[in-house]
Amino acid sequence: MEDNNVVLKMENICKTFPGVNALSSVNFQLAKGEIHTLMGENGAGKSTLIKVLTGVYKIDKGKIILNGKEIFISSTRDAQEHGISTVYQEVNLCFNLTVAENIYIGREPMKNKSINWNEMNKNATKLLEDRLNLKIDVKKTLSTYSVAIQQMVAIARAVDISRGILILDEPTSSLDANEAKQLFVVMKKLKSEGMSILFVTHFLDQVYEISDRITVLRNGEFVGTYEAKNLTRIDLISKMIGKDIGEVEKLNNTFKNTTRKLSGEKLIETHQFGKKGTIEPFDIDIRKGEVLGLAGLLGSGRSEIARLIFGIDKSDHGTIEIKKKKYSYIYPKKAILDGFGFCPEDRKVEGIVGQLTIRENIILAIQSRRGIIKYLSIKKQQEIAKKYIDLLSIKTPSMEQRIDNLSGGNQQKVILARWLATDPQLLILDEPTRGIDVGAKYEIEKLIAKLASEGVTILFISSELQEIVRSCDRVLVLRDRKIIKELIGEDIQEKNIMQAIAGRG
Ligand SMILES: Nc1ncnc2c1ncn2[C@@H]1O[C@H](COP(=O)(O)OP(=O)(O)OP(=O)(O)O)[C@@H](O)[C@H]1O
Ligand SMILES: [Mg+2]
Repeated sequence: MEDNNVVLKMENICKTFPGVNALSSVNFQLAKGEIHTLMGENGAGKSTLIKVLTGVYKIDKGKIILNGKEIFISSTRDAQEHGISTVYQEVNLCFNLTVAENIYIGREPMKNKSINWNEMNKNATKLLEDRLNLKIDVKKTLSTYSVAIQQMVAIARAVDISRGILILDEPTSSLDANEAKQLFVVMKKLKSEGMSILFVTHFLDQVYEISDRITVLRNGEFVGTYEAKNLTRIDLISKMIGKDIGEVEKLNNTFKNTTRKLSGEKLIETHQFGKKGTIEPFDIDIRKGEVLGLAGLLGSGRSEIARLIFGIDKSDHGTIEIKKKKYSYIYPKKAILDGFGFCPEDRKVEGIVGQLTIRENIILAIQSRRGIIKYLSIKKQQEIAKKYIDLLSIKTPSMEQRIDNLSGGNQQKVILARWLATDPQLLILDEPTRGIDVGAKYEIEKLIAKLASEGVTILFISSELQEIVRSCDRVLVLRDRKIIKELIGEDIQEKNIMQAIAGRG
């Protein structure tokens, strides 16, 4: 790419946190009208690179050059004034405000010292239509819209602030395949208008669908920048994890465990169990030591089944039999006492406790099972935390680090650790690998296989069909809040799941 096409240059960027070299001499260049994807394992420094660009963190060393001139960014306002805008990994929106208010918050059009609501709503409607091909009522509160639309609203705000550079940190992690496709249409349109987009994702298919170039970071270090069409997948993974191609191929050939039998005794059996408005009454049995997958689009009812079985939502229909005892509903405390674990989909809402340390977050569920009285000694807590930090390669200088200082993917691993640490008999995993890098995904799949072979039962929910196919002994496919198909053994194939989801199975 011609040098005069470069809009943004970052040179030898360094940023440290206590005990962590988050970025050491990183170089990055963004050209006009390109989509440039930043790749790297959890904790490699992607979000940090973005945050120094948007003024959240100040760089220790290095140079940022925008349109040929060195700039100094010391606040998010500075970044906005330079026309750099972002949709962060953790979307910051106000769900109780309207769509228009969310787009113009802090930048409201004024008239006679008060907000000009008409103007604001008109501008918001036009912005969404013209730039994002989206026609919605901007006067409605944001919470009435789907996650995909909310994401679009965040992007609209960023596009409106941006003068040429747009940054999207894992915007697709909570979208389903169709929604991600729609986002890509928008990204391509913005690109054709000359926008430069810096994109982060852990989905390899998406990387190749959308990127012109790819920059790889590893351990806070710059590995290289490549044309996407010249970089094979296996090459990319090998650069990300720092292992040679032969080793990556070995990782890739994860075996499908077909030796497990479905003859284990029934751990759970439901009879027309359900809850009005969330999921149609269902009859399922879950057998000891199986990996049972729930597949279907977002909103098809997968998480709803999990929440009813763990008692987060209270059923109003039918019964559930757990270890041969019948109940008309259960509640989480009971589920935990019964040896169930639940690793939720949305770690921000139901998962991490930001002010607590990694150790405290890990021991939370065990402590809750033991009750306040049987307090775990600090030494025991440290032992448990260390075991899981090692097992899941959680990247941190110390277990006493506050969890909100961890990278997104590493926070996800801590939540997984919390439930693994309880030695559950049944582990419900709702999108456990969301935001987790490729290498760690394989590790988690291996761990699932190992747990199942030891007799742990796993209820596995994932939007990534390949993951379901590799891990599950049996798969239930959902559509429109109903279980519509069961697949066993050899029939568990991506195309069969897709056909069922599409209504042709
Ligand atoms: N505020 C902070 N305080 C201390 N350490 C931090 C802070 N922010 C990030 N780090 C550390 O810096 C490193 C890089 O984190 P970063 O969030 O940039 O990773 P990432 O590449 O975005 O990972 P992921 O794919 O998991 O989102 C990690 O080791 C992380 O723990
Ligand atoms: Mg990140």
